[in-house]
This record gives sequence, structure tokens and C-alpha cells, in this order.
Amino acid sequence: MHLGILTGGGDCPGLNAAIRAVVRRAIGKYEHQVTGIRYGWKGLIEGIYIPLDTNSVSGILDKGGTLLGTSRTNPFKNSERLQDLFSNMKSANFDAIIAIGGEDTLGVAERLHREYNVPIVGIPKTIDNDLNETDYTIGFWSSINTAVDAIDRLRTTAESHNRVMIAEVMGRHAGWIATYAGICSGADIILTPEFEMSIDEIVDILNARLDRGRDFTIIVVAEGAKLKEMGELVTSEKRDEFGHVYLGGISQILADEIEKRTDLQARATILGYTQRGGTPTPYDRFIATLLGVKAADLASEGKFGYMVALKGNDVVPVKLSKAIERLKQVDKETYDIARVFFG
Ligand code: F6P
Repeated sequence: MHLGILTGGGDCPGLNAAIRAVVRRAIGKYEHQVTGIRYGWKGLIEGIYIPLDTNSVSGILDKGGTLLGTSRTNPFKNSERLQDLFSNMKSANFDAIIAIGGEDTLGVAERLHREYNVPIVGIPKTIDNDLNETDYTIGFWSSINTAVDAIDRLRTTAESHNRVMIAEVMGRHAGWIATYAGICSGADIILTPEFEMSIDEIVDILNARLDRGRDFTIIVVAEGAKLKEMGELVTSEKRDEFGHVYLGGISQILADEIEKRTDLQARATILGYTQRGGTPTPYDRFIATLLGVKAADLASEGKFGYMVALKGNDVVPVKLSKAIERLKQVDKETYDIARVFFG
């Protein structure tokens, strides 16, 4: 078989580990030919490839980013792109595509499979962890590591200055990074898109902490968090090719509001793209390896239209249509655990 492999959407730690696993399994067990498609779907539309063999994936397990490059290109944006994609698939003689991506990349994969019978297997990745049908996505735990490390640092300076430190994390419309990083760093308040709080409620918690002699506070806020007084803070009118708005900056607004309503000093730190960079944690390397090997197996068996997913300790195939049917958001049970430590 000739497999094409691509990474699409926002990068994250662990992508190279997944590429390595697919290539090693596909060549080592099945003697397939593997070609890397550069820059996500853009590489298939424009025919930009890189041959992959055992040596080209050697020494990349621990490297962040993606050796294939990535982009947020949507082939369904216009019919020419789609035609180019099909003619390139044909001329490159791909028997199957392995797409490593989040909701957008796998949304395209699902549509290509459903509408045009393109033979595709998906692998879930995104720091946001918002893909349905899988417990975790590649990259999520590495971003938690980065965020927790940063929040631990904010805590010592918060304590020294008796300040309110607000750490803003990514996650788009899901609060997984905020909730998990907040729990792991002992945050006093966690704000997510799923569970709105008002500024008054936040100020009440700050005052309650002061009453018990805690004169510093750590707040973790998701970039897409909604305060009761305002909705999501959309930063720009621009949208990406999949129609996503740009978020970010809510931490500074919150800091200003806290300073207006209390005598406390509040400082905002946006962790931004640091959460997508750096080396993958061992756990991300591990799941990327399991998922990559399984994806190569599925493609070899001709089981297309599936995403490999992590359920408990098992790696199982789930329908791509199920994986993208809705966004996986933080559940009340998990957020209630975080809430135990508020205040
Ligand atoms: O989906 C991953 C993510 O990092 C989100 O958390 C964030 O909102 C978005 O990508 C940023 O997108 P871009 O890379 O296009 O700026």
C-alpha cells in the first residue's frame, strides 16, 4: 500500500511521535510505502510531499512541532481546491490517507470519506482536548504540563506581592486546559466557557480568602470563558478558513475589573502559544505511539472512516462521524471537583 500522512490545524507536542509510530508500523510490519504530505490539506491540494522511511523518522520522538508542517487550509473552501486534491491523490497513487488533526482536519477527513469515499483514518490531536469519543487527544497533557509549570511560577510571585494573578490559557470553546491545569496547580478560581461566573462572585471569593488571611489568589481563565456580565471575548473580526473566531485577552479585562472593585492588585498573564510548543510529555509520547501504530493497522486492514481513540487503557476505532458530531466540553462532575478548591 501507499500511505499518505498529514498533520493539520494547530500544532502540538506529540505529532512527531505519532508520525514516527505510523511510519515504523507501516514499513516494519506491512512493508508499505509512506509519503508525508506537507502543511495539512494544503499539501494534498498543491502536491507538496516528502518521502518518509525509517531513517527520516529517527530521533523525532521527543521533538515538538511537526516535521510535516501544518496549516489551517480547508479543501472545501472552493471546488478548485477539491478537484486539485482529488487529482493529486490519483497522481500520487495514495491508497489511504492518515490524517492527524482536531475537529477541523478530521471534519474534512469525515466529509471526504462520506461524500467521496476517500480512504482515510484519523488520529486525534489538539491541546484543547475537545474531540468527542476519545478520553484524551495528543498534545493535551503536554500543554497541561506547560501551563502548570507557568502557574506554579505565578504563585510564588503572587505570594510575595499579595496579588491576584490571572493565568489565561487556550482551549477555544472548551475549558479542559483551564480545568485540568487549574486542578493541578491548586487554582483558587477557574473560569471556563462551560460554567459562567459573574465578576461579583469572583470578588466574593477574593474577599472570603482575605477574611481567612489569604492575601493572594490564583485565577485560571480559559480564553473562551464567559463571564455573566459578558460573553466570549472575540479579539478580531477575522475568522480562519473553518470559520473560527479569534479569542484572547479576557484575563486583562478581569484584572481591570478586580482592581476597580477591590483594593487588590491584579496582574494578567496570557500563556498563549507556549502551550503548543516544547517537548511532549512521556504520556503524550506514549499515547501518540499507541494511536499511530493502531492507525497504521486500521489502514492496512482497509478499515476507513474511523478515528483511533483512547478509551481508558484501550485504543479503539470510532467512527469519524461520531468524533466530530459535537464538541466535547467539560462536564459538571469534573468541574465540581475543581470547584471544591475554590476560595
Ligand atoms: O486549537 C488549538 C488552539 O491553540 C486553540 O486553543 C486556540 O484558540 C487556537 O488554536 C489558536 O489558533 P491559531 O493557531 O490559528 O492562532
